[in-house]
Amino acid sequence: MTVCEYKPGLENIAAAQSSISHVDGKQGILEYRGIGIEELASKSNFLEAAYLLIWGELPRQEELEAFEHDIRFHRRIKYRIRDMMKCFPETGHPMDALQTSAAALGLFYSRRALDNPQYIREAVVRLLAKIPTMVAAFKLMRKGHDPIQPRDDLGYSANFLYMLNEREPDPLAAQIFDVCLTLHAEHTINASTFSAMVTASTLTDPYAVIASAVGTLAGPLHGGANEEVIAMLKEIGSVENVRPYLEDRLQRKEKIMGFGHRVYKVKDPRAKILQNLAEQLFEQSGGNKYYEIAVELEQAVEEKLGHRGIYANVDFYSGLVYLKLGIPSDLFTPVFAIARVAGWLAHWKEQLAVNRIFRPTQEYTGTHNVSYIPIEER
Ligand code: SDX
Repeated sequence: MTVCEYKPGLENIAAAQSSISHVDGKQGILEYRGIGIEELASKSNFLEAAYLLIWGELPRQEELEAFEHDIRFHRRIKYRIRDMMKCFPETGHPMDALQTSAAALGLFYSRRALDNPQYIREAVVRLLAKIPTMVAAFKLMRKGHDPIQPRDDLGYSANFLYMLNEREPDPLAAQIFDVCLTLHAEHTINASTFSAMVTASTLTDPYAVIASAVGTLAGPLHGGANEEVIAMLKEIGSVENVRPYLEDRLQRKEKIMGFGHRVYKVKDPRAKILQNLAEQLFEQSGGNKYYEIAVELEQAVEEKLGHRGIYANVDFYSGLVYLKLGIPSDLFTPVFAIARVAGWLAHWKEQLAVNRIFRPTQEYTGTHNVSYIPIEER
């Protein structure tokens, strides 16, 4: 058997065959099951996009209604999980809280019937339904408040913002948030999706699969970048300071958060849509200092790094939208996770259909036939 050449980060190595989504990094194209992300963002909604990703086709009216009904019914979390969350430290990061509580779901629904379509659907519904409730619950509980129970009369996105902010969101905010979820739902074999697939390939339960993916998404080079972008914009502080700041950071060989991508060598199509959403929100309220800094920074980075294919990615403008929707910056990555559960579940289901456990090889660079040295002789 010939061993493929080692490629750091598995760059350009096909780890799977998949029909879920497609990215063209040169053209800046993203498609979910062949449908362009721009069309889904303007015409669809998150739960419909999640159904499309997971079951491969746009749902008929009755299928979508049944899916939405089942998700409304399963939004609540067990009081034992809430009691567990009460013990989490106030200073804990919400992604650690989410990874812990997602894994805890497996304690209650551990039956592994991976060959049973009904079990698959139940797991899909429970995870899509309960992850937002757990994210919102930790935000309140870390301050010593009781979590807000889900409201069955509100749609998926409106209910999340209601549980998070303790008041019903205005329809535009709920609609914009729903578009953000659709944009973040899926993106081929990114690091957290790959984690989900590797974990799924051992035939463990779907809750462990999602907990594994949440842990991977948390890193600042991946889903954690959106929170870092806001911190960076605040550190820059003014439009005048953008270029000196950028110069200094590049001098120190530090990466600019929200820029660059393993696949996109042009501006991320999702960043374009998120920038428009940010503009919409800020036009309403007379502009925003951090948005102006962001636009200036994007221009400056393009001048400096554009020739190397380094442009704004999905994480660059998302945080500005979330801030405006009243979402604290340390909840930006959990919001990314709420959306990406759809993609992780789609790949989990696709992996099970053609499963073979992931077990790559390595290029050994160590030594051989080394003698053991007793501790007194070292
Ligand atoms: C997401 O994979 C996905 O699809 C992910 C995602 C999804 O939807 O799942 O799109 C979501 O994770 C978006 C990315 C969010 N991360 C960031 O914004 C963090 C900043 N970006 C970089 O860390 C980086 O661009 C990555 C991690 C996104 C991509 O890394 P690669 O492909 O491994 O590229 P690299 O780190 O090897 O960089 C290649 C060169 C390097 O220069 P040299 O060492 O060769 O001189 O480009 C430089 C890098 O220093 N570079 C940057 C840069 N990104 C790459 N330099 C400055 N700022 C940056 N942001």
